[in-house]
Amino acid sequence: MNTVPETHYSATAKWLHWLTLLLMLGGYTLGFIMADLPVSPTRLKMFVSHKWIGVTVFLLSLIRVLWRLAVPPPQPVAMPAWQRLASEYTHRAIYLMLFLLPLSGWLMSSAHGFQTVYLGVLPIPDLLHKDKALAETLEEVHESFALLMLALLAVHVAAALKHHLIDHDGSLRRMLPRRGA
Ligand code: HEM
Repeated sequence: MNTVPETHYSATAKWLHWLTLLLMLGGYTLGFIMADLPVSPTRLKMFVSHKWIGVTVFLLSLIRVLWRLAVPPPQPVAMPAWQRLASEYTHRAIYLMLFLLPLSGWLMSSAHGFQTVYLGVLPIPDLLHKDKALAETLEEVHESFALLMLALLAVHVAAALKHHLIDHDGSLRRMLPRRGA
């Protein structure tokens, strides 16, 4: 049995973390661009890709939470108690938004009457009947969730950079590939 405390996240946790970052970058880029485009086949393709990304983020986050329960993360690096608490609650809020953001998009899309066909092959059941007024409300909810997630990620990245560049406490390295491993 391994009794040495883990200092790094597992390789799987790292893959899931950085893959999610890439997907979020793609999802946000498409989301911001397509919002202002006039109706066109290009805009439609962007919507479709945006929705596929959302479903992928949802599924990966499910795997990620299950993985985290099975393989706990390393103990936090030394820091004042308030920072540890802030980091724990920011992480929890990010996890929650990783589900609520795609879910609100799925509900909105259902209320608009646009079914999602994942990767063009797997139809995902609509959760709501077509309802224009509800779709407009859900659109606002989805946008607000997207902005809230951005704010959380801004805090998260700022904290990661502060720990790396100012505190030099090695916390960023815990999430990066191990050299020589
Ligand atoms: C440049 C972008 C990012 C950087 C530099 C970064 C950095 C980090 C670092 C260093 C940790 C480990 C903290 C520790 O020592 O415990 C971490 C954890 C985490 N990151 Fe990020 N991150 C970034 C983007 C993201 C994104 C886009 C998401 C989600 C959408 C995210 C979600 C999380 C979560 C939920 C944890 C907690 C993992 C756990 O303990 O279960 N991060 N991040």
